[in-house]
Amino acid sequence: MIKVAPSILSADFTKIYEAVRMLEESGADYIHCDVMDGMFVPNITFGQKMVNDIRRHTKLILDVHLMINSPERYIDEFAMAGADIITVQAEACVHLDRIVQQIKYNGKKCGVALNPHTPVCVLENILAQIDMVLLMSVNPGFGGQSFIPYVLDKAKALRKIINENSYAIDIEMDGGLGPHNVRDAIEAGVNVIVAGNAVFTAESMTEAISRLRLEK
Ligand code: DX5
Ligand code: ZN
Repeated sequence: MIKVAPSILSADFTKIYEAVRMLEESGADYIHCDVMDGMFVPNITFGQKMVNDIRRHTKLILDVHLMINSPERYIDEFAMAGADIITVQAEACVHLDRIVQQIKYNGKKCGVALNPHTPVCVLENILAQIDMVLLMSVNPGFGGQSFIPYVLDKAKALRKIINENSYAIDIEMDGGLGPHNVRDAIEAGVNVIVAGNAVFTAESMTEAISRLRLEK
C-alpha cells in the first residue's frame, strides 16, 4: 500500500488551515512537515508551534522531518506538539542510537533520513530499532528541486535488506518526486511518497495524490 505525504512547505503559509483541510479532503495519508534551522540546511522554515497549530486542526498523521543540527534538543518539544513520526537526519546526529531511543521514549514512530550521498550501510546496526528510513532524493533545503536518480539504487538495496530480515520498516522518498518519476521510486521499493510541488501546484490535489499512488 503506497502512502502519500504532501509537504506543507509548498503551501502558502498565510493559508495553512485551508491547506490542511484540502489535504484531508484530497486523500493525503500524512502531512509532511519540513523543519529547517538555517544551519544543517541553508533555509529556515518553521518550528514546533506550527506543528502544534496543524495538530489542532487535523487527525492526519503528522510526519515531522527535522533538518536541524543536534535534534535531541527539540525532540521532546516536537513530540509534545503532536508529531506522530519524528525523522532525524543521520548526518545531524552524533549519537544516533540515543536519539532513536529518545524518540521512542516519547512514544513516537522513529524515522532516520539519509542525504543523497550518505550510504544506506550507515544504518546497518540500527535498522532493527527504527520504523522508517527517509531517502532524500534532493539535497535538503528547498522544495521544487530536481530528482537525483542514483538514490533509486539506494532504495533497491535497502528494500532487499528489509525484506531479507523481515523488518517492518517503511521506505520514504523525499524531493523532486512527481508523476514523471514516482513509478521508478515505487518499483525500487519506496512505499511512502513525499511531494511538495507535485501536490500544491496541481489543478486537482485529489488527482495529484492518486496519481502518486499510481491509481490513475
Ligand atoms: C526538501 C524537503 C522536501 C521538499 C519536497 O528539503 O525535505 O520535503 O520540500 O518538495 P518537492 O516535492 O517540491 O521537491
Ligand atoms: Zn522533507
